[in-house]
Amino acid sequence: MKFKNAFMRRLVVNSFIKLYYHSKPKIWNNTFWFGVPTGKCPPDLWTYQEIIFKTKPDVIIECGTGSGGSALFLAHQCDLMRRGRVVSIDIKDHPNRPVHERITYIADSSISEQTFTQIKEKIKSTDQVLVILDSDHSKDHVLQELNHYSDLVTKGSYLIVEDTIIGGHPVKRHRKPGPMEAVKEFLQSNHDFIIDKSREKFYLTFNRNGYLKKVK
Ligand SMILES: C[S@@+](CC[C@H](N)C(=O)[O-])C[C@H]1O[C@@H](n2cnc3c(N)ncnc32)[C@H](O)[C@@H]1O
Repeated sequence: MKFKNAFMRRLVVNSFIKLYYHSKPKIWNNTFWFGVPTGKCPPDLWTYQEIIFKTKPDVIIECGTGSGGSALFLAHQCDLMRRGRVVSIDIKDHPNRPVHERITYIADSSISEQTFTQIKEKIKSTDQVLVILDSDHSKDHVLQELNHYSDLVTKGSYLIVEDTIIGGHPVKRHRKPGPMEAVKEFLQSNHDFIIDKSREKFYLTFNRNGYLKKVK
């Protein structure tokens, strides 16, 4: 089957994302890295791997740890690269998160001043920094994270905004404004980042318009 126009392609991709996201039981609630739950879809994890290989981060900051599956995935990528550490922040201090020498957990809000101070203390001026936002998905919160963390991202690296597909893009149409709207507003005033659509090449992504590359 050939998709001759962008409209048809978009229709098929959106239908598949809806099928995947609303599956019963939810596939993304039943996805694991090394036995630890992670709320990611596998193509996004593969894209992370490609970004990490290309940009070789020294520090990966993750807002929103959850059970820790994504933090462990990131730490294992660092193991393979023999480089990098992960700082993962969550307002809730879950027990039994994976222990790994490259992971530091911070139990606090991602937008509190003390969190931000702690994070800055962990970054050297020469470090390559990658940031992933996957905590509270309300527009206001994501926008605050974008404004807080964008300065820490190094040129050529990424600020990844997770779950931009909610709020009708194309799933959960009735949700209040969320990550997609935050990205839109952020990019109106911040011209250091571009949306890197090439990072959506697998079609299935939870991060539509969410792979922000720092170009300046
Ligand atoms: C979608 S889950 C994270 C999933 C995880 N990154 C993964 O892929 O496995 C979102 C997490 O954000 C946390 N969270 C909610 N509000 C937060 C805030 N203000 N600061 C930091 N974390 C927050 C929640 O406690 C929850 O564990």
